[in-house]
Amino acid sequence: MKICILLGTRPEIIKMAPVIRACIKKKLDFIVVHSGQHYSYNMDRVFFEELVLPEPNYNLEVGSMPGYAQTAAIIEKFGHVLEIEKPDVVLVEGDTNTVLAGALAAKKLNIKVGHVEAGLRSYDERMPEEWNRILTDHCSDFLFAPTKLQKRILKKEGIKKERIFVTGNTIVDSVLQNIELADTEILKKLDIKKDRYILSTIHRQESVDLKETLAEMLKAFQLIYENFHLPIILPIHPRTKANIEEFRLSVPEGVRIIEPLGFLEFLKLESDAKLIITDSGGIQEESCILRVPCVTMRKSTERPETVEVGANVVAGTEPDKVLDASKKMLASSRSWDNPLGDGNAAKRIIKIITK
Ligand code: UD1
Ligand code: UDP
Repeated sequence: MKICILLGTRPEIIKMAPVIRACIKKKLDFIVVHSGQHYSYNMDRVFFEELVLPEPNYNLEVGSMPGYAQTAAIIEKFGHVLEIEKPDVVLVEGDTNTVLAGALAAKKLNIKVGHVEAGLRSYDERMPEEWNRILTDHCSDFLFAPTKLQKRILKKEGIKKERIFVTGNTIVDSVLQNIELADTEILKKLDIKKDRYILSTIHRQESVDLKETLAEMLKAFQLIYENFHLPIILPIHPRTKANIEEFRLSVPEGVRIIEPLGFLEFLKLESDAKLIITDSGGIQEESCILRVPCVTMRKSTERPETVEVGANVVAGTEPDKVLDASKKMLASSRSWDNPLGDGNAAKRIIKIITK
């Protein structure tokens, strides 16, 4: 049997890495295709180097363009690769345009699709990711749900239960496989100390593409700095950087903007942070796994398990609410158990696929 793994963005590389490793370990016949949705060194290559991943067999080099055009371009280019390679199954991970395009191209050629991280729902229809998740799930043959919650959601949506497998989230595998390798030099490099800084990332399209919302998020940082006097380290996503410049917004005192980091440096910054404030999906999960309190600067989350165990609070983007949530999370105890898996998700996924 031949497996084709499609990936295209930073989180997909990080979360597919354990699946690629499992394929190598089992000596399976597999290829890796990169859509080229992310392409800057620090959004792409750095992760292949750090996670010691094989070079992709193909890079479709689609680059940045509007979502509809990007999705269409990936469908077409990936379709050609599938016609040449004729895999038995295509694996996609998460909720990006690459994921939806990969699933659609495979289905047009009657190739089976496995969706890693299936069944997540934010119920926020403004998010392009929500449509990518729903549409991909409904055309997948194997749905790898991180927890029982997603299995319930998928069954309720009418997906046959024989297709759904609860495996855990591969982010747990990735964190556990790499935490020992986390780059301890990064704190020194930034001249910060454990528990004496807040780590933040923001990049959601429905937030940072709106001037008012992005301004609100920056205002929230200002309030937080005025209250806690802890530097806010902000490795900046290219979308956010471009928008701050385009909207001519000023960055408040206390916020230290740095370039996006590699996974090993970022893991260290996460694990030593006093608090994490983010709108990222993966970072809500990692903070929960690493037992660092998280405030999610969004209206919704598709990771409610992190909230239920007390690791995360969904605050919205209003500055006062973000401040209140940060106070609450700073006072909380870090004693929750990780609900997202045991670190063997990739092994399970490969076992199911090869069966
Ligand atoms: C995409 C995903 C999002 C995911 C995020 C991970 C969709 C709809 N969005 O959002 O779900 O959370 O990746 O980070 O698929 N850019 C660069 N270098 C790059 C890539 C992008 O400079 O390597 C810049 C370009 O100006 C581009 C912008 O970032 O227009 C946005 O990139 P894009 O891939 O369209 O969306 P993301 O915001 O990265
Ligand atoms: N990440 C990283 N360097 C950074 C910021 C994030 O390595 O500077 C990693 C982070 O550890 C997580 C992933 O990128 O595994 C999350 O990606 P992102 O927030 O871009 O996307 P999302 O998870 O929201 O789809």
